[in-house]
Amino acid sequence: MEPFMTIMVAMDENNGIGLNNILPWCLPGDWNWFLTISTNTIDPKKRNAVIFGRLSYESLLKQDRSPLKHWHTIVISSNSEAIKQQSSETSVTVVPTFERAAQYSYDMFHNADQNIENVYVLGGVQVYDQAVKLKLVKRIYLTRIFATFNCDTYWTTLDLSGFKPVKRNSNEILSTEDGQIKEENGCKYQFQIYEIA
Ligand SMILES: NC(=O)c1ccc[n+]([C@@H]2O[C@H](COP(=O)([O-])OP(=O)(O)OC[C@H]3O[C@@H](n4cnc5c(N)ncnc54)[C@H](OP(=O)(O)O)[C@@H]3O)[C@@H](O)[C@H]2O)c1
Repeated sequence: MEPFMTIMVAMDENNGIGLNNILPWCLPGDWNWFLTISTNTIDPKKRNAVIFGRLSYESLLKQDRSPLKHWHTIVISSNSEAIKQQSSETSVTVVPTFERAAQYSYDMFHNADQNIENVYVLGGVQVYDQAVKLKLVKRIYLTRIFATFNCDTYWTTLDLSGFKPVKRNSNEILSTEDGQIKEENGCKYQFQIYEIA
């Protein structure tokens, strides 16, 4: 498989990403960036597929179910029945391993009838790690938060050495925001985009 996945992650200065299975910060501008990029497509006939670990998926259900109708969602969990009970949406697929998620999303991405424009990897740590280690990631949207928060989940193994910072083409959604430093609730953060070197 060639690199075909895109990671989206927001991290503080210690690579913290979560606390008590929610986001440790309240940054509406970053949440809007996440929702807008992950739900939009350049081709209006297409949609995006997303891959979550079970806890990250449950975290999203608590926070905001609205993007689910836009995605084909792939959840990695050993308990598919529990996930299906929580998901009234029909376009949720549960798989037991990252490898199965990768194969499933790759097949969708390459099947023209499925109309999938992008495959986003949306956490958590093991899912991000496996995507990078298996060299399946072509782009990373990293919201770098210039502060430290109380966290219990960290992506300490993030290794950007195989990636280079880029500015996207102007036809891509929200590309004018690339690299901008924002401030909300007294907290500065930056939308950083990396692509495979
Ligand atoms: N800041 C951000 O951008 C961001 C993004 C996403 C999530 N988060 C935060 O991160 C935290 C959740 O992440 P997490 O790393 O703790 O958990 P996670 O990866 O979302 O979920 C872990 C669960 O997913 C399944 N799983 C994940 N990877 C697997 C694999 N490779 N093989 C088999 N099963 C796998 C297992 O489910 P079963 O136990 O059901 O088998 C495992 O217990 C939350 O606090 C969330 O808010 C932050």
